[in-house]
Amino acid sequence: MKEERLDKLLAAQGIGSRKEIKELVRKGGVVVNGCMAKSADLKIAPDAEVVVQGKPILLKKHLYLMMNKPTGVVSASRGDDCPTVVDLVPPELKRRGLFPAGRLDKDTTGFVLITDDGAFAHDILSPKHHIPKTYIATLDGILTEKVVEAFAGGIPLKNEDRCLPAQLTILDDHTAKVVLHEGMYHQIKRMFAACGLHVDALHRMAMGALPLDENLAEGQCRELTPQELELVQNRDGLK
Ligand code: URA
Repeated sequence: MKEERLDKLLAAQGIGSRKEIKELVRKGGVVVNGCMAKSADLKIAPDAEVVVQGKPILLKKHLYLMMNKPTGVVSASRGDDCPTVVDLVPPELKRRGLFPAGRLDKDTTGFVLITDDGAFAHDILSPKHHIPKTYIATLDGILTEKVVEAFAGGIPLKNEDRCLPAQLTILDDHTAKVVLHEGMYHQIKRMFAACGLHVDALHRMAMGALPLDENLAEGQCRELTPQELELVQNRDGLK
């Protein structure tokens, strides 16, 4: 990360608009490497220590959040009359340009990755990369080996190409673990519908080889570590 203007950097961290940051600097509220910043156009290095109104700020180019999405919330940056996953990001983690990397249906719960890094999102969603996503589905009917075989063979969906083979593990009569390597619209619900089953509940429990943190309550999110980001990009999935 190269040197950047102080106001631009702090605005990107969600501290406020550039105008608000200029005002903060003017009032002496920003300290860089132990010295009060005198001007908002000060160029600062990526490893600079920046304190805003007594609070140290961690300068990062991009932010990567794991959220445990509740039902009733849309996977989007803006919703017309519905709360979005981005609305649920707490103020201290909010920054400009956040969006969910991939979509879960409004009634699906679980792991949503929220970021401001478009290239990263493109990479993990690209059909070329086939990053596995693992779901737990609760069905209204009884699961059989026939359904396992149909998923493994690639289910043909109306008006779409045949799905890629998906791994289905029966956990009990009505519950299955499903690993998908692509992300078509309502894909799991449509795959089960093609087998005569209705999905009563769907939960995404992992992206790549990274499971959802069990300590995250619904609606909560936290930053991912660099190691966790690597696990998200792992094509082998959960072990
Ligand atoms: N498949 C679905 O049907 N819905 C989701 O939210 C994710 C995968």
